[in-house]
Amino acid sequence: MTPEQKKDAYKRAVSVIKANDRGSYTIPTKGLYPFQWNWDSCFTALGQAHFDPARAWTEIETLFAHQWDDGMVPHIVFHVYDDGYFPGPTVWNTGREIATSGITQPPVAGYAVARLFDLSPDKNSVARRARPLIDKITRWHRWFHSARDPAGEGLVAIIHPWESGRDNSIDWDTAFERVPTEGVEPYRRRDTDHADPEQRPTKAQYDRYLWLVQHFRALGWDNSRLHDASPFRVVDPGFNAILIRSCGEVARLARQLGETAIAEENEALAEKGLAALERLWSAEHGQYLGLDRVTGKLIDSLSIGGLMPVFAPIPLHRAAAIAGRIAEMGEKVRYLVPSHDPAAAGFDARRYWRGPVWLVVNYLIADGLRRAGREAMAEKVIESGLELIFSSGFAEYYDPTDGTACGGGQFTWTAATVLEFIDSK
Ligand code: GLC
Repeated sequence: MTPEQKKDAYKRAVSVIKANDRGSYTIPTKGLYPFQWNWDSCFTALGQAHFDPARAWTEIETLFAHQWDDGMVPHIVFHVYDDGYFPGPTVWNTGREIATSGITQPPVAGYAVARLFDLSPDKNSVARRARPLIDKITRWHRWFHSARDPAGEGLVAIIHPWESGRDNSIDWDTAFERVPTEGVEPYRRRDTDHADPEQRPTKAQYDRYLWLVQHFRALGWDNSRLHDASPFRVVDPGFNAILIRSCGEVARLARQLGETAIAEENEALAEKGLAALERLWSAEHGQYLGLDRVTGKLIDSLSIGGLMPVFAPIPLHRAAAIAGRIAEMGEKVRYLVPSHDPAAAGFDARRYWRGPVWLVVNYLIADGLRRAGREAMAEKVIESGLELIFSSGFAEYYDPTDGTACGGGQFTWTAATVLEFIDSK
């Protein structure tokens, strides 16, 4: 990309984010996702920090205004009525004044808040906004370790594929077969009105997504029961890496703010998680693997989830191996980083999380590679992302073989990531 092209991409990215801004929160894209999504909002704030820092803090504050009493932060906040999305508030029925879903998403908030703080030149004024947030984020981190790691193993489980943020990853297929479909209430999907069905999850997967929602709803969304009662309990290395990094970042910020208790609590969680993450390393594959907590077995599936741990402070030789895996995949596809290994069975270049490139994942991986001293590979990952938006616009995801734009368009987090890529270069 030339400097002129970068300037142009920057301007277009800002206008995508502004067009999706609803005042105090930002929607991922019009039509397909008309509410506030948890990890989308945290990435959105990173983008907003480059042109409207005060608005960036508001994005995360709005999300945390909907934190549950038990500490969970829901994956969707249904701020307004919109019939164009399914499953809506009546299906979730979580009984909140402003409706939310009943499951969570990857905890990027801790990382995002620390980054907003780092980017701000006026630490005193942003400290006022950071303090209450790190308190709430710590409650969320604590919730993860009690509700999603009841046996104290050090790693947390997701109980619904949507929690991973990588909804239909091949990683979940085997464990997902355990989820029944009997008794699923009749429904009509809306996602396929907005996006090509060939690029979305299948009907069989949707039935199971909904069975889990109904099951948890029948248990009154009581998080002290959901983990053990779910037939789907998976320990995802990518998800845990985000949690570990966020704990570390909140701890670092808390030290700067003189909040010692918060710092110590997060440091302990990060340390415990990092040690436990080693159990997910596969020497055979040179990457991490998911763990099926119901069977106690590692999941033999080579997805991006097993590379995302580079975002956490893993040992440097592991980061080097991950850079090697990405290089290998780069020989098979034109654009990095495919969400599933193109050489593995099941890879599907255009189906959502079963192959396509997602720029937010590139962001996490590039950041981690940089921190681990793998600058050259980090650059390649960033360049791939910028080439994709240059050739195909601000799409939801992209075909890694030819760069075709997939899913929704004018996508907020894609635009936010681009601002980070361009401004930090
Ligand atoms: C899809 C993605 C998820 C994202 C949401 C809104 O469900 O899989 O990660 O948060 O869309 O963009």
